[in-house]
Order: sequence, then C-alpha cells, then structure tokens
Amino acid sequence: MKIGINKIGFYTPHMYIDTEDLAIARGVEPGKFKIGIGQDKMAVVPKTQDAVTLAANAALSILDQEDIDAIDYVIFATESGIDHSKAAGVYVHQLLGLNEYCRSIEVKQACYSGTAAIQIAKGHIALNPDSKVLVLSSDISRYGLNTGGEITQGAGAVAMLITRDPKVMVIEDQSVYKTEDVMDFWRPLYSEEAFVHGKLSVIQYIKLFQDLFTAYKEKNQVTLAAFDGLLFHMPYTKMGLKALKSILENESEQEQERLIKQFNIGKYYNEIVGNIYTGSLYLNLISLLEQDTELKAGARLGLFSYGSGSVGEFFTGILQKNYRDHLFTEQHQQMLQAREKISVEQYEKVFMDTIPNGIGNIEFDISNDPAPICFAGIKDHMRQYINKEQ
Ligand code: COA
Repeated sequence: MKIGINKIGFYTPHMYIDTEDLAIARGVEPGKFKIGIGQDKMAVVPKTQDAVTLAANAALSILDQEDIDAIDYVIFATESGIDHSKAAGVYVHQLLGLNEYCRSIEVKQACYSGTAAIQIAKGHIALNPDSKVLVLSSDISRYGLNTGGEITQGAGAVAMLITRDPKVMVIEDQSVYKTEDVMDFWRPLYSEEAFVHGKLSVIQYIKLFQDLFTAYKEKNQVTLAAFDGLLFHMPYTKMGLKALKSILENESEQEQERLIKQFNIGKYYNEIVGNIYTGSLYLNLISLLEQDTELKAGARLGLFSYGSGSVGEFFTGILQKNYRDHLFTEQHQQMLQAREKISVEQYEKVFMDTIPNGIGNIEFDISNDPAPICFAGIKDHMRQYINKEQ
C-alpha cells in the first residue's frame, strides 16, 4: 500500500522582524545574520497564539469537510506543549470540529517528533486503509533576548494529512534512525526558554546526518545520484547547508552544483519564517515543492529529521503525478505577504509580554490578531480558545 502526504500546509504569525534590524540593535555585523546564519526574517508570535492555535490555524487552511469527517487520528508533535497531561491534539480536535471517533495524542522528542508522528500514522493506515491521519508539528522557538540563540528563533506550524494513495508524496518504507544521548539542547520543565550548547548541537546534527545518510545508502545499495533532492531539519538555513556540504566533498562539481542550487531554492520559507522546531523539516519540504519549478513527478527526495538530545532519521519520499495541483502555494504566499514588519523595540515588548506563571484567570484582546483561531485567555486555570469562523 502506498501511504504518504495527501495535503500539506503551514501557518506562521502575522508579525516578523528583519534580521538586519536585529543585528544593528545587537551591535552585530548584519552579514553574520543574513549570510553567516542564513536568516532573513524572523516570525514574532503574539501572546494570542500558542502551539495549539498555530497548529489549528495550519490545519484549518488545508482541510475540507470530507477530511474533517474522516480524520480518525490527530498526532500533535511539539516541544512547546501547554499542559503536562492533556494532549494539545484534543484542543485542536475540538477547534476543528473533527469526528468524535478519533484518537488525539501528543508526541515529543525535540524537533524530531513530527517524523515520529508520520511513522505512527503510516502504521495506523497500514492497519486501517481508509483512515486519514492529521499530523501537526507546531512550535515556538524561544531562546531569550540578547542570547546567542536569539537569531535562531521563530514560530509556526505545519499540518499534514496522511492517507493511502496520497496526492503529494508517497513516504517510502526504507528508513534509518538512531538515538544518541547528548545534551546539546533541552528545556527543563521550569523554563520558558531553551538551554542550548549551540556549537555542540551543530556538530551532533552533522554527525547524525552523515551516519544516517551512509547507513541508508549501504542498506539500500544506492549512491547520491539516487536522490533528486535533499531536505533538512533547519533551525537556521546555514545549518542545513553545512550538513549538505559535508557529504559533497568527494562528489563531482556537477553533483555539488545540482544539490546546492536546489538547496538555495528550497530554503526560502525557512529563511523568512525562522526556526519552527518540529515543523522545520516539513517547512523546507513545502518550500521546495512550492518554489522549485523544475522538480518533476516521480522525483525521489531524501529527508533528514533531527531532534536534539538526540534522535535522527533519514527517509525518502516520491513526488506524485500532478502533485503541484494539490499544494497551497498561493494561500501561503498571500499569508506571507500580509505579514507586518515590526521594529526590534516592538518585538522586545511582545517577547516580554508573557503570562505570569500560575495565573488562573486572564483575558486577552484578540481583535489585533488576524488569525482565525486565537488563544483568548485563561478561566479557572483552563485555556480559552476561539475559532472566529465557528
Ligand atoms: N558576514 C558573513 N558571515 C559572518 C559574518 C559576517 N559579517 N560574521 C560571522 N559570520 C559567520 C561565521 O563565520 C559563522 O559561519 P560558519 O558557521 O560557517 O563558521 C557564522 O556566521 C556564525 O558565527 P558564529 O560566531 O559561529 O556565531 P555564534 O557564536 O553567535 O553562534 C549559533 C551561532 C548558531 C551556534 C547560535 O546562534 C546558537 O546557539 N543557535 C542555536 C543553535 C540551534 O538552533 N541548535 C538547534 C538544535 S538542532
């Protein structure tokens, strides 16, 4: 049975800052952020959006009534969870009005868990061929003002509908994965911000990619030529480029050119949204599919998923006939164009405007947030969500 991505879309908040403005404010040469890190813009998230609403907004933009009635599994991948107990998927289930005979869970392993969710979905569909599974990867990347990681922040969610006979990309069964206990990035339960050993995270990421790519080629008896493109988990675009270059050293000039040219086309959405943790690899996939006009049906793409801590997986997908007709390219472009550029001062104000820990009752003004689904406050310790379209 062929199983894979039938629909794929993303959502990012309505505000961003230009990384040149951030560089100037931090006394850094703008070239470091624009070229050295490879980030052009960075999404800024208002307090009326959280992991639940980002994911619900992403899903809302791709699902039709037939999907809503048929989805029987919501798998929510995040490292920005809002509750130690209740799964974020349950909130999304209610906000989208999904069929009640549906499982809703949350999965976690840093930025890797979106891939775990897809693999769980594949297993479920293999047993229940008519099932449609909603996989959500949603996060807010937050390191803190004036920190080394500040430039690699962002916010957003990717929603994927996983089914049999998918219209966009079949996910092949051959896959290699690995776990290595490393403290490169983590967020203790008491902290709003992530802790990161930035340089170690880059070393571990490249190491796992090289290990898995070599293991995949050996296991499946293929060479680099078998891949029409490579996609990466991308906390910042330079990190993906470093991983790609690390396997190109002994390749011909033509192969290097082919893959680097394609990487530069595909990195676009990551470059202007920023780090969305679990969704980053899939944002790179959307970006390549929507930006690369030369990619053809039948192309085999290799995907490297990485979650600090660390778990990695390398797997492949095959683009389906007329896959372009099933993308949401125009919708994504409209969303990105409608975003508002804010100043560094405004970003700092939004960043500091957090909800006091343990507060039981609070109301937010959602009138300035154009998103259809918003986080409207807390009542008796219960988060209040509003779908303006319902
Ligand atoms: N023009 C162009 N490039 C410039 C430059 C300029 N004016 N100034 C510096 N650079 C380049 C550096 O040469 C370097 O390139 P290289 O990585 O190819 O060597 C790059 O910019 C970054 O400079 P560096 O001094 O290493 O930056 P840093 O000490 O601020 O650290 C990170 C950068 C990415 C490590 C830091 O932002 C971080 O910790 N981020 C979080 C890490 C992360 O997201 N991990 C994810 C877990 S998967």
